[in-house]
Amino acid sequence: MSHYLFDNNAAETAGRFSVLEEHYDPVSTRQLALTGVTSGWRCLEVGGGSGSLGDWLGARVGPDGEVVITDLEPRWAASRSRPAHVHLQRHDIVRDPLPGSGFDLVHARLVLFHLPQRLAVLRRLVSALRPGGWLVLEEFDCGWTPVLAAPDQETAALFERVHATLMGLLEQAGADPLWGRHVFGAMRRAGLTDLAATTRAEAWVGGGTGMALHRHNTDQVVGALTAAGVTDKELALFRDALTDPAFVVNSYPLISVRGRRPAETTETTR
Ligand SMILES: C[S@@+](CC[C@H](N)C(=O)[O-])C[C@H]1O[C@@H](n2cnc3c(N)ncnc32)[C@H](O)[C@@H]1O
Repeated sequence: MSHYLFDNNAAETAGRFSVLEEHYDPVSTRQLALTGVTSGWRCLEVGGGSGSLGDWLGARVGPDGEVVITDLEPRWAASRSRPAHVHLQRHDIVRDPLPGSGFDLVHARLVLFHLPQRLAVLRRLVSALRPGGWLVLEEFDCGWTPVLAAPDQETAALFERVHATLMGLLEQAGADPLWGRHVFGAMRRAGLTDLAATTRAEAWVGGGTGMALHRHNTDQVVGALTAAGVTDKELALFRDALTDPAFVVNSYPLISVRGRRPAETTETTR
């Protein structure tokens, strides 16, 4: 099984998924709609988390279509009921056989970011498409999270230090915090055509729901942050900043890239 820093058995998972749904689902559904996904399509939602986007796809394709939602830990998505044409399955996209083939649309948001085998997984996702089918990958670029306003310089510097430490932990676990900026090129090299990309970012204000993502992420790995040199006092000040309306940071930019498997695949896409 792949190592995933934010183990989905932890209590912080529900909070993380609710931030992702509230702030990024409107972006993702727009990107998915741009593929033309419609009644009767067969879709694969990889690492579906809460299942919200798989359910959106299920409503879009209707009972004549099919949606397979996968996740290493499907219990969060399992808490919602869904129609018979939307299937949820426990699945490791790195190691398990693909859960089907010939899909019209494959989507993954914030999954390959975490996987050291991301390029191999990308090739697997392409191979799961029918010729002409769409792959939509949406990933963070964590390299552009400037502090937009702060009560003082110390608070801004503290945020940057704790955040950089968290990024270091992610890298140690095999994640690529800058993966978002590499997705377009990787999809092109995987042989996809009709590539298009958009980036979405917004200001997150202390005390707001977006800023809570930083709280959930750091709370989950407090032990590792402390071992990496962040003191209890710094963590307490960091948490205070996250609830202070005078403190504002740029959200993680979400880079959404879509592309199609060509009718004739080349050797590199297999
Ligand atoms: C940051 S969450 C994103 C969840 C959802 N895609 C979203 O954007 O709301 C990453 C998800 O990928 C799942 N995941 C991690 N490694 C995986 C793997 N090897 N195979 C399938 N899912 C995986 C995690 O369990 C988690 O649900």
